Amino acid sequence: MGLAPRYPVRTERLALRPLTGGDLDALVAYRSLPEVCRYVPFEPMDADTVRERLAADWARRRLDGEGQSLVLGAEVVASATLVGDLLLHWTSVTHRSGEVGYVFHPDHAGRGYATEAVHGVLHLAFDDLGLHRVTARVDLRNTPSARLARRLGMREEAHLRENEWFKGEWSGERDYAILEQEWRSLHAEGCPDLRAPVPATVVVVPDLVGQELREGHVEIYDRPIGVRLLYRHPATGADHYLVRYPPGLVAAPHRHRAAHTFVVLEGHLEVNGERLGPGSYCHFPAGALMHHAPAGEEGCVFVAVFDGPQDVEPAGGDGGA
Ligand SMILES: CC(C)(COP(=O)(O)OP(=O)(O)OC[C@H]1O[C@@H](n2cnc3c(N)ncnc32)[C@H](O)[C@@H]1OP(=O)(O)O)[C@@H](O)C(=O)NCCC(=O)NCCS
Repeated sequence: MGLAPRYPVRTERLALRPLTGGDLDALVAYRSLPEVCRYVPFEPMDADTVRERLAADWARRRLDGEGQSLVLGAEVVASATLVGDLLLHWTSVTHRSGEVGYVFHPDHAGRGYATEAVHGVLHLAFDDLGLHRVTARVDLRNTPSARLARRLGMREEAHLRENEWFKGEWSGERDYAILEQEWRSLHAEGCPDLRAPVPATVVVVPDLVGQELREGHVEIYDRPIGVRLLYRHPATGADHYLVRYPPGLVAAPHRHRAAHTFVVLEGHLEVNGERLGPGSYCHFPAGALMHHAPAGEEGCVFVAVFDGPQDVEPAGGDGGA
């Protein structure tokens, strides 16, 4: 077992091949960009770093055993331009498992090159290396990468919350996977249409009441509250939060720019003078003046669904409820 491709590995528009010293400038052009490195484990690279990697781990041309990674460049054949690079990591011989990674120049985004290249690498992984399962780990905020994985038929298997202290903050990830039988059935009539619309992601957050919440400091409260972002719409910025008000919290009257809805899960919430218990729902029009706090001394847990970013501003001297 092992993988020794005959290079170049051709796809419709690309040649996948080992990187060489001649790729130095092209690699630095995108691997030095902070935006490219935002959700990947490495920091922006300078020419010296790229040169070192080319001479070391990127020089590998074949996979001989588990724990090894093969890094290939993706070159557009028509223009002989290196537009990105890909990684196939052989995780386990016993479990016949592997992982893919990919980094592309943003100047060449949106044309399906990355999708086409990763598709080519999956052919190597399943057809030549004989893997049973290939995964991709994607930062929760990396929507283009998640779309790419789904476009290739990879299923979302896990949604990890704050699993890594990553570049100065807690980050979560979605893990995608495809099994050899799924790969075969996708290819029952040849390669699938990689331009087909990507199915929408269904966001599922089970056990709301059992969620761990992060301490949040919001200017309208006299102490930190517990908060977790459940979902943010990538285009509109609409936020969904799970919120815990600690007992005795004092809140100032305020307005949110976006309309929003609360569903109380635990305890009691006082909203503009109304007392809401578990299972209660209330809706606030955009910009409406409001006051809400835990009712009495007990704390309370609720879901807040905003139609847009949750921007809040204290109501200042214009009164409260
Ligand atoms: C992740 C990354 C490779 C995705 O790049 P991308 O440009 O979205 O991916 P592609 O090159 O496959 O292009 C896909 C887009 O082109 C469109 N497209 C155009 N022609 C296409 C074709 N022939 N085939 C497939 N898609 C095509 C697709 O519809 C898609 O657009 P959409 O997402 O708006 O629907 C890129 O953002 C990147 O390198 N980021 C930095 C590194 C990184 O985060 N890597 C991932 C770590 S997990």
